[in-house]
Amino acid sequence: MPSLRYSDITPKADYLNRRRFIAAAAAAGGGAVAAGLPFSPATAAIDAIKSPYSTSEELTPLDAITTYNNYYEFGTDKRDPSRYAGRLTTRPWSVVIDGLVNNPGTYDFEDILAGATLEERIYRLRCVEAWSMVVPWIGFELASLLARADPMPDARYVAFETLVRPEEMPGQSSRLLEWPYREGLRLDEAMHPLTILATGLYGEELPNQNGAPLRLVVPWKYGFKSIKAIVRMTLTVAEPPTTWNMQAPREYGFYSNVNPEVSHPRWSQATERPVGAGFFARRKPTLMFNGYGEEVASLYVGMDLSRNY
Ligand code: MTE
Repeated sequence: MPSLRYSDITPKADYLNRRRFIAAAAAAGGGAVAAGLPFSPATAAIDAIKSPYSTSEELTPLDAITTYNNYYEFGTDKRDPSRYAGRLTTRPWSVVIDGLVNNPGTYDFEDILAGATLEERIYRLRCVEAWSMVVPWIGFELASLLARADPMPDARYVAFETLVRPEEMPGQSSRLLEWPYREGLRLDEAMHPLTILATGLYGEELPNQNGAPLRLVVPWKYGFKSIKAIVRMTLTVAEPPTTWNMQAPREYGFYSNVNPEVSHPRWSQATERPVGAGFFARRKPTLMFNGYGEEVASLYVGMDLSRNY
């Protein structure tokens, strides 16, 4: 890595500027930096806002991240989202933040971005189906947006909802799931610095199939908690209903922390298959909290994680 950092030659306000970052990252070919490829001048832009929370593991190739997706609003085949999500209109976009907050309202996407500090966060993603990826997200801490909404003292949970627009989301014409897709976090999980809202990956804007324009990423939980295309966040006292838990409560708990010791009723969670690593790639052992235990285990002290799965 070069010793001259982008921040040495650029005012701070500028190096955090989204457009510059996106442009520089795109010019650099995005993942080239993280993958440890030879230095090119523009790569320093990414270096400047690299996060200490990023893993140095090998990245999953972009084409695997964007063609092997779960997004039931577009169908159940892994390729359906890449086939059909292109038709989703993602501008204008806004997010309603309501419930137990002092500043409820409709937050325009551009306004959310203007107030956000974007970082590259390279996270492991572990799906409950036992496949995994390493994704270079671009995003910002959910805590910073919740702080703008200013939660009231009795708020304990955040409920999230995805857009409902069957004209553009063909899967919503079936009753496969109860729409809208819903998720939820305890407020301390939502405020944890590892929890981000992603707006991009591989140095570019988020592809529609990955949840554009704004999706949650909670790296220590199974992937289904990371809800896509968010249009609403509601702060509540009670634990909110969540889609997969409503669908099959015995199979999918509210917490859904990655846990190799608690099997899914129909398969083991002890190992995982890295997607995009080639047909002969070995399965990897799955790590407790997906490897983020040092950061998040304290959130669950005193809880029996085999019961609160
Ligand atoms: N969000 C919505 N709205 N609808 C979905 O079907 N699938 C979830 C999650 N978020 C889903 C969703 C599941 S099961 C996983 S594993 C991740 O998205 C997959 O994210 P990716 O396609 O970006 O890898």
